Amino acid sequence: MKNIVVLTGAGMSAESGIATFRDSGGLWAQHRVEDVATPEGFQRNPQLVLDFYNKRRRESLLAKPNNGHIGLVEMQHEYNVQIITQNVDNLHEKAGSSTVIHLHGELMKARSSINPDKVYPLDPLNPDINVDDKCEDGSPLRPYIVWFGEAVPLMAEAEEIVRRADALVVIGTSLNVYPAAGLINYVYAGTPIYVIDPNEVSVSRGKVHFIRKGASEGVAELKGLLKEQFEHNKNKQ
Ligand code: APR
Repeated sequence: MKNIVVLTGAGMSAESGIATFRDSGGLWAQHRVEDVATPEGFQRNPQLVLDFYNKRRRESLLAKPNNGHIGLVEMQHEYNVQIITQNVDNLHEKAGSSTVIHLHGELMKARSSINPDKVYPLDPLNPDINVDDKCEDGSPLRPYIVWFGEAVPLMAEAEEIVRRADALVVIGTSLNVYPAAGLINYVYAGTPIYVIDPNEVSVSRGKVHFIRKGASEGVAELKGLLKEQFEHNKNKQ
């Protein structure tokens, strides 16, 4: 089976009712990144940070996968589909995708403030992290989120997966945040890249097919394009 690697961002979950970050009215128009998405912000005001993520966790628990997520699951019948997501919701898993890497953490987990490897699943029935909650090492529990200024531990694994891609699909990310945005540079020259986004996204690589649509419609169109791509290659051999 061909390896289809899919890099997703907030736009993937937009049709499930989850806000993006940089669209007008997005999360970063309402909150300061420094306050809610940095380790310094957490030190300064843990309650503010916990409230922000508790709210997002509760929203994501109610959200349902959209036809884009479901379309990617259907593709597993024909391809080896590996998802690398910047999203912290679990909608890819809820839809049934079997291989998902979360580059920026997961809302449904908590971790120690001093040891990034001490990670705990949160209870969907009692999902909030409270300001007095402590890890067993005595440090405050914090959201299992990779904040700005922190290392992205799964990058090396993600780079390796992208290197093996027969096609790279980028869905719903403005490609503003590094190192995740740099992953597109790890595909081999000549590997087709498909970008699904209703808005313009700048990608400085050769062979890019832009699908200017939302995730649901875009994934439906992608299926046909991949078929053409690989059948075309077969005919050439
Ligand atoms: N379908 C597909 N894409 C969409 C849709 C949709 N229905 N609606 C909006 N988009 C696109 C926007 O046009 C934009 O290009 O989704 C993209 C969202 O971009 P951002 O808000 O910048 O989100 P993302 O790229 O995922 O952000 C990366 O930034 O703050 C951090 O850690 C956070 O993981 C996040 C990272």
